[in-house]
Parts: sequence; C-alpha cells; structure tokens
Amino acid sequence: MNRSFLFVPADSERKLQKAADAGADALILDLEDAVAAEARPAARQMAADYLQGKQNIWVRINPFDTEDAHADLEAVMPSAPTGIVLPKPRSAADAIALSRRIDVLEQKHQIEAGQTRIIALCTERPEALFTLSTYAGATERLSALSWGAEDLSAAVGASANRDRDGNWLPTFEMARSLCLLAAAAAEVTALDTVFTDFRDHDGLLRYAANARRDGFSGMLAIHPAQIEAINAAFVPSSAEVEHAQRIVELFEANPGAGTLGMDGKMIDRPHLIHAQRTLKLAKHGKRQ
Ligand code: COA
Ligand code: MG
Repeated sequence: MNRSFLFVPADSERKLQKAADAGADALILDLEDAVAAEARPAARQMAADYLQGKQNIWVRINPFDTEDAHADLEAVMPSAPTGIVLPKPRSAADAIALSRRIDVLEQKHQIEAGQTRIIALCTERPEALFTLSTYAGATERLSALSWGAEDLSAAVGASANRDRDGNWLPTFEMARSLCLLAAAAAEVTALDTVFTDFRDHDGLLRYAANARRDGFSGMLAIHPAQIEAINAAFVPSSAEVEHAQRIVELFEANPGAGTLGMDGKMIDRPHLIHAQRTLKLAKHGKRQ
C-alpha cells in the first residue's frame, strides 16, 4: 500500500535525482502545474527517460481535454509508468476516456493490457463535485482518488482555502470529505492532498495523523522533508494493532456472533471491518 506520493517537477534534473532517495513509497513526475508550458517538451523526454526500469513511478499529465495531455501520454507510455495521475477531470467520463486511450497505447508499446493504473484528482473543478458518484465502476484501472484545493479555490474565486489555524474552510473541507466518500463508494483508496507549508513539520504531523484517522490511506507530498512523517502517520501504532488483533480474535472465538462485548464496549461488524483494515495497513510498514 502506498502511503506517500512525492510530486517531482519533471523538468528538474536536480529534483529527479534527489527524489530517488527521499524514501517515498511512490513518485509522481509532474508534467502539469509544476512545469511551465515552454519547459513541457523537454520535461516529457526527461520523464520518459527517468521512468526506464523503475518501480512505482506515476506521471501527472495535463487535463485530458487539452492537446498537452495527448503529447504527455505519447511521450511517457513507451516507458510503462505505473500509472497516470489525472488532473481536473470533469467527471469519471474523463477517467474512462483516459483509460481507453491507454488501452491503445499499451497495445502499441507491448505493455500488458490493463497494467497502467489511474489516480484521479477528483475535486479540482467545481462541476466535478456534483459527479463524484460516477467513479464507482467507471474503470478497472482506477487505483485511488485524491483531491486538490488550489485549483478549486481559483475556480470559485476564494482568496483563501484555510483559516488562520490552518483548518480547511468549509468549501474545501467538503471537497475533502466528498473525495473520501467517493473513493469508498468506488472501493478504491483515498489519498489526502498536499500540505503546502513544507517547513511546518508539526503542522504536517497533525495533518497526516488526522488524514489517517478520517480514513485516507496515504497522502501526496511536495518536498522530501515531508516523507518520513507521512510514512509514519499512515502506519497504525502498536496499541492500535494490538486492539485490532483482539477484536479479530474475539470474533474468531465466537463464530456466528454479530455483536460482542469487549472492555465494557459493544463491538460489532463495523468494528471488525475497521480492525481488519488496521491490520492490513500495519502489514505494510513499521512506525518509526
Ligand atoms: N522532489 C525532489 N527533490 C526536491 C523536491 C521534490 N519535490 N523538493 C525539493 N527538493 C530538493 C531540492 O532540489 C533541494 O535539493 P538541493 O539543495 O540539493 O538542490 C532540497 O530538496 C531542498 O529543497 P528546498 O531548498 O528546501 O526547497 P526548494 O525551495 O528548492 O523547493 C519547492 C521548494 C516547493 C519548489 C519544491 O519542493 C518543489 O518543487 N516541490 C514540488 C512541486 C510540485 O510538484 N507541485 C505540483 C503538485 S502540487
Ligand atoms: Mg493543480
């Protein structure tokens, strides 16, 4: 399971080099907002070269309704990226259209059919928020949903998206929750958005802990200094693992029971599901 996804502007040789040692579970080579239009042709080539023979590297292409998106795909698909990060979809229809385009390119480049995954940044356009249920069953390639506040702020004309304490303002908190719900409905993982204040380590620790509490299974990152905190945050603590283990064992010892008492509290099926999820998350890493 991927806890941390580090964005790397694909036009920066220096950052591409540094990214490999950042400890991120996955990298996202960016061809969209972090790269100026005039740098894009070179960035595409750099991304394609960087991808060669590497594992768990994703590419953020440009929005699917632009010419750039197609040039991005033409350039990187021969290098078989793990997946494509799709920005600014209007609805799951854009993810389906992307998937069809990938079908053709996989065949052309002798890549196993269906291998290339998709992560959709599902809240970047206002209209997209009214279509989030369309991701359920949209494409087998869908691996996760994530969300972004910056483009949405610009689209609605908001001059801020967080309050003075760093909490999301209502429009953005809602977008975050809808992303989480849409991912659960589509049975894919939810990834929380970037924490842009990359020098605020304590703020990041709090943010990532809340993200896991709320149900996100990983998070996007913009700076190597954020990776360790994110990786640790998305692994359950030993106390949580122990508690989850006891719940699972209690149900195993009482086959057929729907509800049980543990430590003076009622435990039923939703608790069992949560405990199983905790154990699954714990299997994928140790807390530092
Ligand atoms: N990936 C790889 N390396 C990175 C990195 C990243 N995302 N961000 C910073 N680094 C490297 C820098 O190159 C620098 O290395 P150096 O000193 O050996 O040259 C080192 O880490 C420290 O960087 P720092 O000086 O603290 O930050 P900066 O001012 O150079 O860069 C950002 C700040 C925000 C521009 C940079 O972190 C970045 O480009 N992040 C990704 C942006 C992005 O992709 N956005 C799109 C999604 S929202
Ligand atoms: Mg953006």
